[in-house]
Amino acid sequence: MIKGFIFDLDGVITDTAELHYEAWKKLSDEMGWHFDRELNEKLRGISRMDSIKVIMDHNHVSLADDVIVELATKKNDIYVNSLESMTPDDYLPGAKELLTHLRQEGFLVALGSASKNAIKVLQQLKAMHYFDVIGDGNSVAKSKPAPDIFLYASEKLKLQPSNCVVFEDAEKGIDAAIAGGFHSVGIGPEERVGHAELRFNTMKEATYFEVRSFFSDFF
Ligand code: BG6
Ligand code: MG
Repeated sequence: MIKGFIFDLDGVITDTAELHYEAWKKLSDEMGWHFDRELNEKLRGISRMDSIKVIMDHNHVSLADDVIVELATKKNDIYVNSLESMTPDDYLPGAKELLTHLRQEGFLVALGSASKNAIKVLQQLKAMHYFDVIGDGNSVAKSKPAPDIFLYASEKLKLQPSNCVVFEDAEKGIDAAIAGGFHSVGIGPEERVGHAELRFNTMKEATYFEVRSFFSDFF
């Protein structure tokens, strides 16, 4: 039986990809590194430290560990600063409606995000009250595609993975949900999240009615 829902944050509840892009772009420009939107797509769902390594690999750069941490911190400062302009108007269309509906129906709801800034983002959106459990980049050591963040969330909800549906926009996020034995809903194009059990192009189409009809055998 499905009793809980676990949501990724960036790209599912709100679109922070552009803010991440601008912050990485600023750092890359300062460093003389190439960085564009195509490369930014590869950072979807992965941790900050994994992200900087992807950018450095792309630019054939290697640096000492402490310098890498310093640069990732610099990017984060730019990103966190940009979050100040985020407001409750910045939910992705459909996200707030789905969260509200799930709560009304009495489901348990958790966050399963790779971001260490997840609480800040939820506070800016005034979305904290939708969640029984918050799993973020500080909760587990291994990031997606490892299933750890979703396992952390389901454990805290006191539910088995097979009783939970994960919502994800990242290829590696769907990999993580499948690896953990969760039901999965992909948000985005077929080539990115086509391996999810159910897929919607956007959160707007991911209504409670659609989700419930698809998983009706499990309710
Ligand atoms: C994920 C984003 O949610 O969080 C990634 O999709 C990002 O792009 C990751 O790198 C880590 O975020 P933060 O806020 O901890 O730097
Ligand atoms: Mg995401």
